Amino acid sequence: MKTEIIRREFFNKNSLKRIKEYYISGKVVAIPTETVYGLSADAQNEKAVSKIFEAKNRPIDNPLIVHFYELNQLNGIVDYSDPWVGLLANKFWPGPMSLILPLVNKERIAANVTAGLTSLAVRMPSDKYARRILEETRLLLAAPSANTSGKPSPTRADHVINDMDEKIEAIVEGDDSEIGLESTVIDCRQRPFVIARPGSISLNDIEAVLGKGNIFYHDFNHREKIISPGTKYRHYSPDADLLIEDTSFDNMLQILKNTDEKTLFITYKNKERDVKNLPCKIKYLAKNEENIEESSKNLYNILRECDLENIKTIYILKIKENDKTKALVNRLTKASSKM
Ligand code: TXA
Ligand code: MG
Repeated sequence: MKTEIIRREFFNKNSLKRIKEYYISGKVVAIPTETVYGLSADAQNEKAVSKIFEAKNRPIDNPLIVHFYELNQLNGIVDYSDPWVGLLANKFWPGPMSLILPLVNKERIAANVTAGLTSLAVRMPSDKYARRILEETRLLLAAPSANTSGKPSPTRADHVINDMDEKIEAIVEGDDSEIGLESTVIDCRQRPFVIARPGSISLNDIEAVLGKGNIFYHDFNHREKIISPGTKYRHYSPDADLLIEDTSFDNMLQILKNTDEKTLFITYKNKERDVKNLPCKIKYLAKNEENIEESSKNLYNILRECDLENIKTIYILKIKENDKTKALVNRLTKASSKM
């Protein structure tokens, strides 16, 4: 299949019309969002949705998030009447938050979107390209991240072209993803609410809206209690081995002295002078380690560059986990795991 690449400068009324026709005829289109690029299809068309699973090589027991333009599109599909849901929607939508809600009418969403569950995850993205597409089509779009299953999520159109060229109908080129990590997923089906996947909207951010004690993290290490089926699979991984070292910067330099150009060290720009004579390659996650947003935005791109450059081993110093770094640490830990 020839994949149409819709470049930024050609994103206009005509291309929007074509995109709509693609969805209506059951095709798959990759679109930018502020978190990561998504692989989208009409959530009410089972055949179209099955093409997403094929293109990604995604296990069919892993449900998809449905993207929408305005809340009333969800009427009669999910129950969003809980006042806490209203508070979160008001504060964080459009934006990088997905809510797991009770599905009230399963006839109105293709069964493979929910993988047969009685709940549905929904999100109103803020990215301007995603919003234009959702506004113009008024469709509910099922969209997982636009990577091949197991690879780091795409944060640039080039990443999507690498993974999806000739597998889907079209790829919309937008900006590089502003956030760079997938949305915060919140299970709203019981109280307190539970964060099923950490993201840039943190526990403290949510507590500020719902109050302390009304939101908790799911225990991500407890394999029996998986809420989000996707979190049990190996994820976000480069081909190289990613080693997270819990040691001092000076010790790290000693380790790196015995490496070669097949090894890469991910560090910060403010360490440039300390690392300039090392035998390994270097990439900078951000200006310094305080820049969590910049680090999050760059992580997947760096991991993908490492694969393109045939790096075999990647080192990074352990990042201290706190409210702000939780999502970044979660993705790094997953990328380093062999499961
Ligand atoms: O930022 C994002 O969320 C991106 C952009 C494209 O919106 N999408 C994304 O989708 O990351 P995906 O499919 O890569 O990850 C969705 C996660 C998976 O872990 C999946 O298991 C979980 O959400 N999920 C989806 N529907 C669910 C449901 N009904 N119940 C529990 N977990 C669900
Ligand atoms: Mg994904």
